[in-house]
Amino acid sequence: MSKVIELSTFQCKAIAGFMVEAIGACSGENVTPETIGKIAARLALSHGTESNFGTAVGQAACLIQNIPRPSNPVEARALSSMLGGIFGLGDVFQYAGKSATRVQLFEARDDGIPNTNATKNFLPYHCDVAVMPPALRAHAIGLLPVVNESDTATLVAPLEEMLACVPVAIVRYAMTDAFEVKAPESLGLGNDAWFVRPLIQEFNGELTIGFPTYGVRPRRADDWDAITAIRALTASAQQCSKEVVIEPGSFLCVSNLLAMHGRGVTVGYRKVYRSYFSRCIGVLREAQPDAQNDVFDAVRLVPPPTSVALRVAA
Ligand SMILES: [Fe+2]
Repeated sequence: MSKVIELSTFQCKAIAGFMVEAIGACSGENVTPETIGKIAARLALSHGTESNFGTAVGQAACLIQNIPRPSNPVEARALSSMLGGIFGLGDVFQYAGKSATRVQLFEARDDGIPNTNATKNFLPYHCDVAVMPPALRAHAIGLLPVVNESDTATLVAPLEEMLACVPVAIVRYAMTDAFEVKAPESLGLGNDAWFVRPLIQEFNGELTIGFPTYGVRPRRADDWDAITAIRALTASAQQCSKEVVIEPGSFLCVSNLLAMHGRGVTVGYRKVYRSYFSRCIGVLREAQPDAQNDVFDAVRLVPPPTSVALRVAA
């Protein structure tokens, strides 16, 4: 841990073609193409018309700098939609119900709630909504900081680097059904819902990762190969972790399939808008045709957590 990042950094310079694409990528009840257009115009005014965009697709993370600061949730969603479209992150979507995964302002508090963006504690390595099958999971997470008073670091552990630290036999075992992953309480499945899930799985022809280090266990309590795999992957996340300080005026997108992420201890104020992107929005829409404005009910997307009964006590 504590390595300074060497992530791709793009200077944000808008051109008309990207604006049009971004307007097309925008959806949601509160965001109109006019809103997107205004923000795009501000981008263009700030940075001229030269294009220097790259793509974030296939990268563990990408930091985009010199962008306008959103002043409210509507602007945050519009800006996220636009950047998601430009960088190929996919479409902004939300999980409905109890889950708080919409483009939402997280303000760090002192109340000690563990494992959430809204705490000031160290947030250990994880992938978001890892109980979802890869096609239904958020594929990228976008962070738009508003205040980051103490330069709290976001931690990113690229899977590619993690895999280089772990023996092949462990990676192979991590791809089996020997594990259970805990659903976050915010999904509305209760606070003890576990699902049989591989820690690493192939999706669209590449290896992807999906578990929270604080919500994973072997399916059989005496499965030492599974315990070893969990420990090895957790250690490799720590070993490969890079620190990214997100300052207002930047946008950090982190792959939720090709990296694990976490967050350092927060001191002082920290407010960040988070958004979720899917590159398979059609699959989500097909799974829930009655969803409005790409707001999906997470509880209906995952099968019942029946795996608990299979767990064998040591
Ligand atoms: Fe997260």
